[in-house]
Amino acid sequence: MKAVQAIRYGDPSVLEVVELPDPTPGPGEIAIDVTHAAVGLIDLFFREGRFKDQPGMPQPPFVPGLEVTGTVRALGEGVTGFTVGERVVSMSNGGTGGYASVFIGRAALAVSLEGYDIDPALAVSVVPNAAMAHVALTRVAQLAEGESVLIHGALGGFSAAFPGMAKQLGAGRVVGTVRASKLQAAAATKLPYDEIIDSAELAAVGEELFDVVIDPVGGELRDRRLDVMRSGGRLIASGNASGDWGHSVETSRLWFKSVAVMGFNAGAYLPTHPDTVKPALEAAVQVVAAGLGRTEVDVLPFSQAVTAHERMTSRSLNGRIALTPAEPT
Ligand SMILES: NC(=O)c1ccc[n+]([C@@H]2O[C@H](COP(=O)([O-])OP(=O)(O)OC[C@H]3O[C@@H](n4cnc5c(N)ncnc54)[C@H](OP(=O)(O)O)[C@@H]3O)[C@@H](O)[C@H]2O)c1
Repeated sequence: MKAVQAIRYGDPSVLEVVELPDPTPGPGEIAIDVTHAAVGLIDLFFREGRFKDQPGMPQPPFVPGLEVTGTVRALGEGVTGFTVGERVVSMSNGGTGGYASVFIGRAALAVSLEGYDIDPALAVSVVPNAAMAHVALTRVAQLAEGESVLIHGALGGFSAAFPGMAKQLGAGRVVGTVRASKLQAAAATKLPYDEIIDSAELAAVGEELFDVVIDPVGGELRDRRLDVMRSGGRLIASGNASGDWGHSVETSRLWFKSVAVMGFNAGAYLPTHPDTVKPALEAAVQVVAAGLGRTEVDVLPFSQAVTAHERMTSRSLNGRIALTPAEPT
């Protein structure tokens, strides 16, 4: 199979297209002929070796990529509910293996796209993240009907999956924040935000307070974000796109404001709560099918994986990038 490997830790130039043996699925797994693999910020963190000393983290050479879409190529022992040739999307299977023409994933983490007319690049860009949004909103934040939601980094890959899922779950107002440089893109987005504001001007929401805050951006602003929470509010710390790894939140402020900061990391949560996965994936497909996940997606061939990672770093995108093994003719 064709794959993109990180041959060592480092900058995007460590990514190389290679030929590897075709893998076969083990018990409970499916093999997928990949048409598109999503590129996420976590792929860059792994490539940089940011978590290299933590147990279970990828060691070079490894194939980055968490999420893929394509058609079922083969079923491992004991797998039922899928047929060869069926169009599917698969969530993360431990954090690697996505940038390959054949992906081995756990059948329990895949969902069928049969019966839906969903663009595969959009499907891989939104379905897995929308499934995580479903778990974060229902199980962690315990979103109630009519509650308001504030989403930071509104156009980012992970965040973009939240407004549609929040609306589908019955949220009231859903507001996003972006940096000033993305306000124009925010004005053009088809994502179902009621409003998107400059994150530097959070006060622009006036007296409005939010019940749930989704924060994959982190950094020193996380502490200030508590100011826009209603008492009883829940802030979900779900990433660190800001790259500021040293920030902290004053626990006394949680007490005074009577709010909670909760972490959500799908890689830690889903294996211990496997019952959440199937309903989340099914809800995620519904969100995308209903047109509630229309984020921008740029598709690049595997041979431009370096460019894909450089664009993620330089932030010259307004949505997601998907890689495809198909090279332009
Ligand atoms: N909890 C989970 O299970 C889970 C799942 C997926 C991802 N994540 C995490 O979520 C984070 C985002 O990942 P992603 O793949 O969505 O990345 P992404 O597509 O690159 O999006 C990052 C977003 O953060 C914004 N941002 C970056 N630095 C910022 C700053 N200093 N101030 C304000 N906004 C800033 C970006 O805005 P600009 O476009 O203006 O740069 C963009 O909207 C990562 O930490 C990732 O590990 C967590």
